[in-house]
Amino acid sequence: MSMSKEIARAKLCLDGKEYELPVLEGTEGERALDIRRLRATTGMVSYDPGVVNTGVCESNITFVDGEKGILRFRGYDIEDLTEHCSFLEVAYLLVHGFLPTPSEYNAFSKLMNLHSMLHEDMRNFFSLYPDHAHPMAILSAMVVSLSTFYPELELDSTEAIDITVARLLSKLRTIAAFSYKKNMGQPIVYPRSDLRYCENFLNMMFHTPVNGYSPDPVITHALNQLLILHADHEQNCSTSVVRTVGSSRANLYASISAGICALWGPLHGGANQRVIEMLESVIKQGLSAATLIERAKDKADPFKLFGFGHRVYKTYDPRAKVAKKICKQVISHMTRTDPLLEIAQELEERAMADAYFQERNLYPNVDFYTGLSYRAMGIPINMFTVMFAIGRLPGWIAQWLEQRDNAENRIVRPRQVYVGPSRRTVAETLNVSTYSHPGKN
Ligand code: ACO
Repeated sequence: MSMSKEIARAKLCLDGKEYELPVLEGTEGERALDIRRLRATTGMVSYDPGVVNTGVCESNITFVDGEKGILRFRGYDIEDLTEHCSFLEVAYLLVHGFLPTPSEYNAFSKLMNLHSMLHEDMRNFFSLYPDHAHPMAILSAMVVSLSTFYPELELDSTEAIDITVARLLSKLRTIAAFSYKKNMGQPIVYPRSDLRYCENFLNMMFHTPVNGYSPDPVITHALNQLLILHADHEQNCSTSVVRTVGSSRANLYASISAGICALWGPLHGGANQRVIEMLESVIKQGLSAATLIERAKDKADPFKLFGFGHRVYKTYDPRAKVAKKICKQVISHMTRTDPLLEIAQELEERAMADAYFQERNLYPNVDFYTGLSYRAMGIPINMFTVMFAIGRLPGWIAQWLEQRDNAENRIVRPRQVYVGPSRRTVAETLNVSTYSHPGKN
C-alpha cells in the first residue's frame, strides 16, 4: 500500500494501445510516475542506467531538494541539527523517527557504553592484517564478523532495536580506533564508560601510554557536527546497497558491511581521501589550482575534481556549507592556517567562475571540506572514509529497518535490456560435428 497520494494519471501510447500510469505525489510535492504494473500490462521494462530517474522506495527518513539545496532528517534541517544536537541524538532520531527525551537519551547513551567492547577474540583478527591494510577493508570485514558473535538479531521491540543499534554504533567506533592503532603500531586503547561517544572515540585514537589524551571541547563538538553531516542521505550508492542486500533478508551486519564497501569507492565516500591527495599534489608536484581545473575539464583526461559534483545537488551541497565553516574553526583552533585550505578555496573560486562548472551545476559536495577538518584533528587520510562510515551508520540502519518493516518490501531484482548474441550452438560455432573436447574423453 503506497503512502504517497495518487494525484493524476499519465497516458502511455504504444502500438496503437493506450495505457494509464498513476502519478504519485510525496509529502514535499515531488511527483513520480508509478510503473509498478508496466511490465505486466505492456510487456516492457523501463531503461534507466545508474538509476538516475527511478524512485526505488517510499521513505519517511530523509528529504533532499537538490535544486534548492535542502537536506532534512525526519523534517529537521541539517543546519538545525548540527547546531543543536549531538550525533547520538541524531542517530536516535534517524532510527526511531523522533528526538529522544533526556531519559531516553541517557538510556541510549548507557547502552552505548555497555556495548562498546569487542569480544577479545575479535582483537586477534587485527593482528593478522598486513600493517598497510586499508582501514575500510578491515572495517567491512569486522562488521560482517560481528554476525558470528551476535547471530541472533534483537529487533522485535524498541528496546531490542536500541540494543542492536547501540551495539553496532558503539562497536564500529571501537573497530575504527583499533584499526588505526594497528596501523600506527601503537597499543590499543579500550573504550571508557565515563566518556561520551565522540570523546571516547578521540581518546581511543589519540591516547598513548606516553602522552595520554585530554578531550578538547572544540574538537569534540566539531566531530559531532561532522558525523551528523554524514548521518544519512536517502538513496545514495551505499544506502541502496544496504537496502539491496537487506532485501534478500541477509542480516543487518552483512548488509552494513556491503554498504561500507560501496562507500569506499572514490566517486562516493572515498572522495574525501582523494580530495586531500589532490590538494597535496598541488604542493608536492608543484602544480597550480588552475592546472587542476584545466585537467578536470579535459575529456581526454580521466581526472575529476574530487569533492565536486553530485547526482542530486544542482546547487551548493548544504552539507558542504556547514563543513566549510567547521573546517575553518577546526583549523584556526588547531594549527591557525593550513596551505591546503587555501588551495581548496582557490579551487572553489576558480571552479565557480568557470563556464564548464557553471553549465554542469558542479558545486563542492560534502567531501570537499570534511577531510580538511579530519586532517587538522590528526586523523590520517586513509581513515577519512572510515569517519564517513561511522557517521553514515545510523542512516544505513534506519533505512534497513524501514525496508524490513515495509509490507511492499520485495527482493531487489532489476531487469536489463539484453544486447548479446542470439541463440547459437557450439557445434555450429566450431563447424565440426565430430569434434569432441579433449577433456570429455
Ligand atoms: N570534475 C569534472 N567534471 C565533472 C565532475 C568533477 N568532479 N563531476 C561531474 N563532472 C562532469 C561529467 O564529466 C559530466 O560532463 P559531460 O556532461 O560533459 O559528460 C557532467 O559533469 C555530469 O556528471 P556525471 O558524471 O554524469 O554525474 P553523475 O551524477 O553521474 O556523478 C558524481 C556524480 C559521481 C558525484 C560526479 O560528480 C563525480 O565523479 N564527482 C567527483 C567525485 C566525488 O566528489 N564524489 C563524492 C560525491 S558525494 C558522496 O558520494 C558522498
